[in-house]
Amino acid sequence: MTPTPAPASAALFDRARAVTPGGVNSPVRAFNAVGGTPRFIRSAQGAWLTDVDGNEYVDLICSWGPMLLGHAHPEVMAAVSAAVARGTSYGTPTEPEVELAEEIVGRTPVEAVRFVSSGTEATMSAIRLARGFTGRDVIVKFAGCYHGHVDSLLASAGSGVATHQEFAVPGSPGVPASSTELTLVLPYNDRAAVKAAFAEHGPRIAALITEAVPGNMGVVPPEPGFNEFLALSCREAGALFISDEVMTGFRATSQGGWGLDGVEEGWTPDLMTFGKVMGGGFPAAAFGGRRDVMSRLSPEGPVYQAGTLSGNPIATTAGLATLRLATDEVYDHIGSAGTTIRGAAAEALAAAGVPHVVQAAGTMFSVFFTGSPVRDFADAATQDTAAYAAFFHAMLDAGVYLPPSAYEAWFLSSAHDDRAVQTVLDALPGAARAAAASPEGR
Ligand SMILES: Cc1ncc(COP(=O)(O)O)c(C=O)c1O
Repeated sequence: MTPTPAPASAALFDRARAVTPGGVNSPVRAFNAVGGTPRFIRSAQGAWLTDVDGNEYVDLICSWGPMLLGHAHPEVMAAVSAAVARGTSYGTPTEPEVELAEEIVGRTPVEAVRFVSSGTEATMSAIRLARGFTGRDVIVKFAGCYHGHVDSLLASAGSGVATHQEFAVPGSPGVPASSTELTLVLPYNDRAAVKAAFAEHGPRIAALITEAVPGNMGVVPPEPGFNEFLALSCREAGALFISDEVMTGFRATSQGGWGLDGVEEGWTPDLMTFGKVMGGGFPAAAFGGRRDVMSRLSPEGPVYQAGTLSGNPIATTAGLATLRLATDEVYDHIGSAGTTIRGAAAEALAAAGVPHVVQAAGTMFSVFFTGSPVRDFADAATQDTAAYAAFFHAMLDAGVYLPPSAYEAWFLSSAHDDRAVQTVLDALPGAARAAAASPEGR
């Protein structure tokens, strides 16, 4: 496979690196995990991206989740254009905010919702609210779950994680130890670790936060009953259960990750966080939950939270248009296209002799380059990242833009039609052979 020439992207990357750290505005875009030149995208339509060199790619990133309907969906574009023509931000309440809040309350167990501009802001605010509501300070999270770059959540398990009882250490320079010393980091899917943490610290725990289905270490489904167990553990301890649905919300199913287990098992999170799909490709996110908890939020209650662009009329219009178009047919289509692609990926990798595991939850899935099932971050970390890098570049050269990291979900949209899916299927066998030929591919 000959590498696709990308001189214009390379030139832009050089210019970008001169004026922006690493040349990008969010680290994973820089291709550090796979090497090479990130493609600078000029335009996108449906399932396809076009880069500044004119190369076309089937998009399996979908803006890291938001583009459920594909790019430049005509009805979303029409709604957004009409909204832009009315002005872009007023700093006053608006009708689309109310309508989007009603849509979210209608689809999920939350009773009230507050809009913010990013998933990071949503989880940060949910944690402040949980602490304000409970009057407690400790937060429990899981290794491998990403909740945005909130100081207290950019935390790694301390060296005593084997005993499950040590508070976290900063996960990045610039995060003070004082920000993570109230965070407990536990292994995912590990009930014993959760029990031990609650047994020792229960009365101090304000909240446990988890991704409804972890997607930020690749897709790692909760073992049956795990989310229900977390909800019950929190309730027994008087702590709040925060389900982070920034990635899964309105994507894994029409009711997000909660639609996979909560509906059936009959539990509800105390707080939920949303982002990505609900903004329709614009910066919008939200947190919401029980009315008695949400009413502690300013101006109804004393817990302060605010935002100049929160509930922005363009972003909420785009989100509302997207959610209104997100019908059962959309989820069925994404689900069946995903089943086809993940089946073909497994077949191609097996034929090439590359160890792999495909894991899915609802319409979300990812391909792990490791030989055994992944139930937590330690398992995900056994991946052969060199094999993934070779696979990624062969796919890119065949016109498929995968996430440039082995630790990510592959995202599809309702615009991934037969031609787009076939392009992916045609690319897989060669990419699997490239993975097999990489230094550690076997
Ligand atoms: C589960 C989850 N929570 C929070 C965030 C942070 O969202 P944002 O990047 O909008 O700050 C992300 C981002 O990928 C996410 O996947």
